[in-house]
Amino acid sequence: FNIAVLISGNGSNLQALIDACASGALPNTRISHVISNRKAAYGLTRAANASIPTTYHNLVPYKKAHPTDTQRARTAYDVDLSSIILALDPRPDLIVCAGWMHIVTPSFLSPMADAGIKIINLHPALPGEFAGAGAIERAWRAGREEGLARTGVMIHEVIAEVDAGEAIVTAEVALRREESLEELEARIHEVEHGLIVEGTRRTLEGLGKK
Ligand code: GRF
Repeated sequence: FNIAVLISGNGSNLQALIDACASGALPNTRISHVISNRKAAYGLTRAANASIPTTYHNLVPYKKAHPTDTQRARTAYDVDLSSIILALDPRPDLIVCAGWMHIVTPSFLSPMADAGIKIINLHPALPGEFAGAGAIERAWRAGREEGLARTGVMIHEVIAEVDAGEAIVTAEVALRREESLEELEARIHEVEHGLIVEGTRRTLEGLGKK
């Protein structure tokens, strides 16, 4: 199988996927391309170190082309993102959003669906909880202020609604009293690294059964 991974930052989840392909944890699978919406994403370095081709897809030119219409800019960006993916050789069987901080529009979802390319996403919260950015911090605050006992991580199918597609795999993470946000983030990222491999494995297994 060929996977394209979308990133925006450090790429520790991308690294988990790179390592899983190398170790055989994801059999017959390779990451054939990495796309980042941020030039400075360290994940681009991780990909280069693993000899994986990369693309930096920058939103700024689209915002400049449509200075008063953000939705138009995002749509045009997603149309080109679709073209980039569909032009890849080999074309990916699966797209994994791993720390990808860009809300995709139907201009991306529809062409991918038409091409039979599934998209899955990592989100550091449980289904129906803390959708959107800053999920870990929001859970940490709920733990301190409302006594929330646990949060978690999920890998889910990507649909138009943010962080709301059907969960493929989830894991609970207990919240600890007096724990710093940094400590919770570190514990959650550890869980992410395992879950993104498991979620990808289950999705590919499903593709293989077709
Ligand atoms: C995840 O918690 C992701 O949701 C958030 O950053 C973390 C992943 O970072 N955007 P990365 O995989 O190390 O880039």
